[in-house]
Amino acid sequence: MTRPPIPNQTTQLHVDPSVIDLGVGQPQLSLLPLERLGQAAALRFAAGAHDFLQYGAEQGDGYFRLALAEFLNQGYGFPVHPDQLFITNGASSALALICTLYARPGDTIFVEEPTYFLALRIFADYGLRPVAIPVDEDGLSVTALEAALQHSRPAFLYTIPTYQNPSTNTLSAERRTRLVELSREYDFWVVADEVYHFLQYRGAPPPALGLHAEQDRVLSLGSFSKILAPGLRLGWILTSPERAAAFAHSGLLASGGGLNPFTSSIVRSLLDDGGLQTHIAELKQVYTQRSETLANALRNHLPEANFHLPQGGYFFWVRLPGNLDARAIMPHAEQFKVAYRPGAFFSTQQGLANYLRLSFTYYPAGLIEQGVARLGRCLRSLAP
Ligand SMILES: Cc1ncc(COP(=O)(O)O)c(C=O)c1O
Repeated sequence: MTRPPIPNQTTQLHVDPSVIDLGVGQPQLSLLPLERLGQAAALRFAAGAHDFLQYGAEQGDGYFRLALAEFLNQGYGFPVHPDQLFITNGASSALALICTLYARPGDTIFVEEPTYFLALRIFADYGLRPVAIPVDEDGLSVTALEAALQHSRPAFLYTIPTYQNPSTNTLSAERRTRLVELSREYDFWVVADEVYHFLQYRGAPPPALGLHAEQDRVLSLGSFSKILAPGLRLGWILTSPERAAAFAHSGLLASGGGLNPFTSSIVRSLLDDGGLQTHIAELKQVYTQRSETLANALRNHLPEANFHLPQGGYFFWVRLPGNLDARAIMPHAEQFKVAYRPGAFFSTQQGLANYLRLSFTYYPAGLIEQGVARLGRCLRSLAP
């Protein structure tokens, strides 16, 4: 008897193999460090200590936090103490825990317009009401934020300050300072999702908002999903030692223990022996080239589209010419065997209709080029 295939798709990834889905914001499978992690796991198992299979310390294993703090010290260029770190199952789990502990159903929160669409799903699960604050080339508009604060006070503001998903823009140094001042003045939390910070291809961004995590009302989220492997489900919150300890005292942790003792003990080897830094350097090389390929393909096949070459991260944010509605033409694109994420997904107001998000991390250069060529043919077929 033949069995039906076991469903193995995720919300982030539904790819029909005949379609080039340039919307997928994930690393290509072959870029995931199978060997490196295999060796790190073998070392940990060979060590013969059983503790990583036990319930873990609630705030995260102390040795792991020590190694992570050292990595962040070097990567961020400012001091990070292990007590400031709370270990999570990734940025998504951090957001869910923040919604549990820092907001109540019905609360207003501020989000960027555009913003990471799946974060909006998490906020909806908690009954939070997002109010959109626009983003421009210098990131979140702090002027618009200040104006919005005259009308309502959010439980928190959710921002992706560096290589934003999807706009790719980075919050300028001046605006970072102003944002922190405003959070003090108007008494709200800044939840800074900094998962793309280390994927820098062209110059360095301003210091991570985690710089203000100890003194100010900042919760800075990091993750191994973009710099190592999403399947690890491992990340961190960088904040003050008191707030990091408070996360560890929540009911979820009291019952289940630390969020990922098993994986964190394996990843610790890669922090200790520099394997993570080597992997990031390799990713940066590949992604720099692929982003150039995507830019050239857009210039060749969609010359009338508007975009900036991203300085880092995963994405291109492309404005279509005229009044083209990216969501409305998705079925048409499917006929040309190409897909993307339409701008409206990233809007709380069903706006941004003539934008689309493309990623350059999932496909090799040849398929990126082919995918954009298909998109170009699709758009030309729509021209009057
Ligand atoms: C801005 C942003 N935050 C969070 C995530 C998810 O991170 P994690 O895998 O650590 O939950 C993503 C993944 O696409 C993202 O783009």
